[in-house]
Amino acid sequence: MHRKLLEAEPYPPSEDTFFLADHIKHEKGESALDIGSGSGYLSSILKESFSLVIGTDILFNVLKKRNYYTENIICCSGADVINHQFDLIVCNMPYLNTDDISDVRTDGGKSGLEIPMKIINSAKSCIKPGGKFIYVTSSLSDFKKLISYTKLAGFDVSILAKKKLFFEELILVQGIRLLS
Ligand SMILES: C[S@@+](CC[C@H](N)C(=O)[O-])C[C@H]1O[C@@H](n2cnc3c(N)ncnc32)[C@H](O)[C@@H]1O
Repeated sequence: MHRKLLEAEPYPPSEDTFFLADHIKHEKGESALDIGSGSGYLSSILKESFSLVIGTDILFNVLKKRNYYTENIICCSGADVINHQFDLIVCNMPYLNTDDISDVRTDGGKSGLEIPMKIINSAKSCIKPGGKFIYVTSSLSDFKKLISYTKLAGFDVSILAKKKLFFEELILVQGIRLLS
């Protein structure tokens, strides 16, 4: 991994973080997973209404430097090392449309889809049937393709909200895991 990333600071809570936070603060259940937890901002909100909250991030250094206290954190890609089914999984996706992944915190790869698809694949078996996966994506990525991909992965998908910013539109997607 690039040296700069080994020293990276957590992604600071931003418009996309607050957009997701506003919608998850009313969710309740036993367990929740925050994929790409970064600063820990979303995990700390989930802690208010879930007994077990786990955060994962691919960057070890970012987890070490997290600014919000979170008890259970794991350094891995998506939910790759987790063997548990959650009521809720949330993710503020790295969604930028980029030729390569030079900043893991924000770059989604081609069409902004490579990393989000990897995360969806990794997350799908870790959600209880009937449980929710709520993620943020953007008009800067091919979000329609990502929604189709989420449906194919076994979710009943809806768009919960959209928010126009100066140069993009944020899109909040909810997938309810179908009974398999
Ligand atoms: C846009 S930031 C969101 C950070 C924080 N959740 C928030 O909302 O402010 C995306 C985070 O995902 C992490 N990430 C990128 N690829 C990942 C992967 N494959 N698995 C887990 N985390 C990943 C990044 O290191 C970064 O912390």
